[in-house]
Amino acid sequence: MADRVYVFDTTLRDGEQSPGATMNLDEKIRMARQLETLGVDVIEAGFPIASQGDFEAVQAIARAVESVQVAGLCRAVTGDIDRCWEAIKEARNPRIHTFLATSDIHMKYKLGKEPEQVVEMIDKAVRHAKSYTQNVEFSAEDASRSDWDFLVRVTETAIEAGATVVNIPDTVGYTQPFEYYDMIKYLMDNVRNIDDAIISVHCHNDLGSAVANSLAAIKAGARQVECTVLGIGERAGNAALEDLVMAINTRKELYDVETNVVTEQLYPSCRRLSQIIGMPIPPNKAIVGANAFAHESGIHQDGVIKNRLTYEIMTPDSIGRTSNDIVIGKHSGSHAVKNKAEELGYVLDPDQVKTLFQAVKDLADRKEQVFDEDVEALILESVYRRRD
Ligand code: KIV
Ligand code: ZN
Repeated sequence: MADRVYVFDTTLRDGEQSPGATMNLDEKIRMARQLETLGVDVIEAGFPIASQGDFEAVQAIARAVESVQVAGLCRAVTGDIDRCWEAIKEARNPRIHTFLATSDIHMKYKLGKEPEQVVEMIDKAVRHAKSYTQNVEFSAEDASRSDWDFLVRVTETAIEAGATVVNIPDTVGYTQPFEYYDMIKYLMDNVRNIDDAIISVHCHNDLGSAVANSLAAIKAGARQVECTVLGIGERAGNAALEDLVMAINTRKELYDVETNVVTEQLYPSCRRLSQIIGMPIPPNKAIVGANAFAHESGIHQDGVIKNRLTYEIMTPDSIGRTSNDIVIGKHSGSHAVKNKAEELGYVLDPDQVKTLFQAVKDLADRKEQVFDEDVEALILESVYRRRD
């Protein structure tokens, strides 16, 4: 049986740190529910010590979702950990995610601490977190620029103290796939208590390698990937969830792992996020961009007509995208309108379908083509607002 890779989604924490991606409380809850439907294993809901707003959002998400773990981020200090626990404790399955930098440059200039002191802090922080919950993750910030043997020691210390997941982030998006593979493999081979925890990876995209690095790490034995919808995140962003999941699924024979993600919810999830943060999906975005399944050249079109597999390595249906086939206009029936809403991530009751259907008809009288964006705007204006 294929090994399971756990998907840790940090759209609402690292993703929200992306310039222009701020979300209010309602929007965060809506996105959290969509992530639950998508089937991620963990939602990192925020950084509770950062602000009262962050604390309240994490608490609200902890109460709003059921089938998914809810993580809160905290530095490796007692006050942060206490505040984090306060925010997440009502979740069905809460996780404390505590972190501390381990690279020479961060320890010297940011923390002003000696490696020995850092090891002590990690031990103390993980033990303190463990006094609240069994579910504790430790992240070695800037791991990819840390000394490998020091990282072995840090990982052993965190596991010994009770961490069940140890995350090895490429915080500044510096590493390259073959290098990251070697590093994760080195940990897998040298950490003496490695079997007591899951190794996780968290890659930033500064050099455009976040997804490739995460996949290389899976190949080396990592069994949790941290990622965000549409790859939003600090600076150039994080590894894009949809790219990772579809690479794992499309190249099963290569990775031999599986996730719990319902791939048909990928497109609705990306649409939902794009609509919430008001950031359009770039047309050439892998998997979910408007052009991802569009064939322009005559040779390609000819091939696809003869057999789709000539130029398509996955189907639009597999990511929940049927827009190529369903065009909404004045001749559409209510069933097509309902399907379109579902494809965009909105499950409507019969009354809502009726309202939307009428709104679409009215718009189609005035506008030749009704785009997905129009239908989504109508859902938000005519269906949801009317109910408030
Ligand atoms: O990039 C990073 O190192 C992080 C950690 C806090 C996990 O976001
Ligand atoms: Zn990060």
